[in-house]
Order: sequence, then C-alpha cells, then structure tokens
Amino acid sequence: MDSLYLTTAIDYANAQPHLGHAYEKVLTDTLARYARRQGRKVRFLSGLDEHGQKVQQSAAKAGKSPQEFVDGISVHFLDLWRGLRVEPDDYLRTTESRHKKLVQEVLALLYAKGDIVKGTFHGFYSVRAEQFLTEKERQSDGSWPEIFGEVVELTEENYFFKLSKHQDWLRELYQKNPEIIFPEFRAKEILGALEKPLPDLCISRPKTRLAWGIPLPFDENQVTYVWFDALLNYVTGAGKGEGKLAEWVPAVHVIGKDIMVPAHGIYWPCMLRALGLPVFQKLLVHGFWTRKSEKLSKSTGNVVDPKLLAEKYGADSFRYYVLREMALGHDADFEEASLAARRKGELAHELGNLLQRAGSMIGRYCEGKIPDAPTPDAVSVAFRATVLGALKKWDDLMRANQIHLALGELWKAVQAGNQMIESRAPWKLAKDPALAGELRATLADAMAVLELVLQEVECVIPTTAQAGLRQLGLEGRVEARAEDWPQWPSGQAGRPLGKIEPLFPLLEDEKTKG
Ligand code: MSP
Repeated sequence: MDSLYLTTAIDYANAQPHLGHAYEKVLTDTLARYARRQGRKVRFLSGLDEHGQKVQQSAAKAGKSPQEFVDGISVHFLDLWRGLRVEPDDYLRTTESRHKKLVQEVLALLYAKGDIVKGTFHGFYSVRAEQFLTEKERQSDGSWPEIFGEVVELTEENYFFKLSKHQDWLRELYQKNPEIIFPEFRAKEILGALEKPLPDLCISRPKTRLAWGIPLPFDENQVTYVWFDALLNYVTGAGKGEGKLAEWVPAVHVIGKDIMVPAHGIYWPCMLRALGLPVFQKLLVHGFWTRKSEKLSKSTGNVVDPKLLAEKYGADSFRYYVLREMALGHDADFEEASLAARRKGELAHELGNLLQRAGSMIGRYCEGKIPDAPTPDAVSVAFRATVLGALKKWDDLMRANQIHLALGELWKAVQAGNQMIESRAPWKLAKDPALAGELRATLADAMAVLELVLQEVECVIPTTAQAGLRQLGLEGRVEARAEDWPQWPSGQAGRPLGKIEPLFPLLEDEKTKG
C-alpha cells in the first residue's frame, strides 16, 4: 500500500499557541485524513520544540525551570489539538528521552565519520534569532535590523557540521527536482541561497551561554544547537529509536515559509544525506496569516486565539474557514466576520439545511427511511452528473494541494442538491400520488449527494461530517474510497435515518438577532 509520512513543524514551547500554529496543524490533519480516505497508509507526526534560548529565556521570565515551563505550555498545545480534532499518530516533545537518545546517537555517528568537527567561531550573534549574523545583514548605518533583537560579539569554541561538502549535490537536487518544493516557485528561493558558498553549520553552544539543550556526547561542556535537535524530531518520530528504520518513508514536511531557508531547505537535506537517509518527498510550504495585512504579533496586540474562535464558532467552522480562505502556499488575512459568514452561509445554510430539509421530509413522507428511487429521469441523470463532476474536480484539486478551490468545487455539489430540491419542490410532489416516484427520486438523490459529500469533507470538518453521516443512518466512521470512486451510492433504499438535528445550530447572537 502506498505510504505517506506526514509531519508538521514542531512549535516552539515558549508561548501559547496562535493562529499560525493552529492553521498548520489543521492543514496537516486534513491532509492526513484525506490520504487515508484515498486508501493510503499514513503516519502523521507533530510535536513541540522545547529546547533552546527562547525557551530558556521565557522560563526564566516566568520564574520556572525550563522543564516545568515547557510541561505547562505543552498542556495548552495538547488541549488545543484535542479541541480542534487534530489527531496525529504521534506527538513528540523534544525533551522526551527517546528523542535525546536519538540526537546523541546521530551526533556520535556524524562525529565518528568526520562530518562534525571542532572549530572556532567569531562573530555577531542574535539572541532572538539564535544565530550568528553575517556582515551582509548589517544595515548601512552599522546597526543590525530590529528583527534580530540584541546582537552581541562572540568568540567561541564550537562544533561544526560540514554543510559545505553537500553544496553541489544540493544545488543539483533542486535544479532537477523543483517539484519537491510546493509551491514550486519557492525552489528558486533555495537555489538563490545556494549561489554563495555554504558555510559549515555551527551545531553546538557552550553550556555557559545556553544550558537548556541536549548535551553533546563527545563534549560535556556543550549542548546541541536547537535547530539541529529540532530537525531530528522527524527521525525520532519515524520510529527509528524503536528499531523501525526499515519502515522509513521519505516524508512530506508541512512548514511555514519562514523556516524553509535555511533550516528545512538546506540544513535538513544535508543532514539526511550525511545519515544515509533519502531526502524528503516534499516540503509543503504554507504562507502566513496576517490581520489587517499586518503581522500577528503580541507586541502590537494583533493576536488571534484559535481556542476562543473554536469555542465561539465550533472547531469545524474554524477548520473550514482557514482551509477555505487561505490558498495553500500564499498569505491570507484573518477576519472574524468572514469566519462567521462562512459558517452561517456555506456550512449552516447550504450544507446543514440540505440535510435538515431532506431528512425531515423523509421523516414526513417516507416514514424516516430512504425511499426506493425509480430509474432516474432526465433531471436526476443531469443532477448526478453534476455532482460526480464536482467530486472529480474536488479530488483533482486536493491532489494539487489547492484545498481552498477544492472546497469550492465540493460545495457545487451541495448547491446542486439545494437547487434540485428547490426546483422539484417535494412538498408539492407529496400532494399528488401520481408524482410519488418523482418525490422518492428527489429525496433519495438528496441523501446520496449528502453521503458523497460528507464522506469527502470529513477530512476538513470531522466532527460534523461524522454526525451528519450518523443522521444519514450510516456509521460515523469514514472508510477508504472504493476502487471505482466516485460512484452514485446504491443500496440505500430502506435505510432508516438517525435523528435529524442541525449540523450548525444558530449561535447565541444569531438567535437574538432573529
Ligand atoms: N520550532 C520551529 C520549527 C522547528 S521544525 C523542525 C518553529 N516554531 S514556531 O512555533 O515559531 O513556528 C511553528 C510553525 O508555525 C512554523 O511552520 C511557522 O511557519 C508557523 N507559523 C508561525 N506564525 C505563522 C503565521 N502567522 N501564519 C502561518 N503560520 C505561521 O519555527
């Protein structure tokens, strides 16, 4: 069976989760569910990045030990994922012993092979970015850009990972396979960064400066640089520590655009190569959420709390909104009013109402059981073709990572269902016994389109889709598609529906507005 190893970036455990974190995890969870629906075997990994300077500083500010601090933060992340139905197969925290053990094994191996060597480093160091800066980054007036925060001059004994020897190989990799980066235009950004000679990567920090990290196995005075530690989460999480390296599948890494160059696009493939592992299958690079076109940042008060939004509008409405609104790979502007409008319109009014109307009419006219439809008439044939066509387009677009457009196509099937009910007017058909066949056809077709749509959209709105499927008298669980998908459902006739209830009930303030 085709396997997929899907990962998210591991979030820094130095503050509460925000909209950017939530989007990425919802996105990856959706891709994982979708791949399972396609019949693929999926391993979905997520986690927290718990070492490094930022965490050490935040812990000190909070008056806690770093471990105590990240334990506290991890509760908020895990709570958010539970609420948003983000359900990875494994959630790795880099302070876990399985990870520390793996990082030390890797360090020892690369040191023994001569891929890690000792050296001296002198330069200007940004505390905030946890990196040494180059002269190129200096501004014309001699100062450093504000984003780097405090910059200090340092000379240190350190260990270096030999990046330079992989440069030609790496350039060729991206020149020949730009499609391993999505969106493909971003491959050019990496190639641009590869135009200058690659310096070797400093992968250690003296304990005197940074205590909160994984100790080097060959030098007790040094700890591992946080990015070198963090990237290796993908190896620990693949199960290497449990003797499962044979199952290693090159991963699809979902990351934000800020961590592509240099970490994932340059360091990571070189690390994999040095370890004798194949390069990732893809870097899926998403854009940034902004608000009123500005960066989300605590200092400007421009934060969006995904937990509050999920509580107010429901986790599925939040999931639907972020995936429908953002073109994967590009930036998008967050607007609460637009979330509310999509919930009320596309989710409640279009999808929810289709089930509510058709379901209650089946209760009224067909004793709560899906009716036996006659041979489809011309209206039904055309309707089915529209729905199956929309499903096919949804699938093509999902495969092309165009989730926002894919959802638009899927909604065409929902809209076709509502239009079909409007134009066939079952409440009129029910008045004339001669039209009983048409009545049955209308309601059976409505149930069928709902079944098809809910099974697909479960990857985006799992809780509601599962509830909807139960109302259709099906088990809530979604199975992999049949070989001949998409096919019009058969054998529905006679199936009793569950209790019909609104999938997206009115919110409190919508009730009061009437
Ligand atoms: N710890 C590193 C990642 C290590 S992966 C081996 C890190 N953490 S982070 O918490 O700063 O960011 C986690 C993810 O959230 C990254 O993929 C980042 O791009 C993403 N986002 C952070 N802010 C974002 C937005 N405003 N919008 C969308 N995603 C953003 O980087």
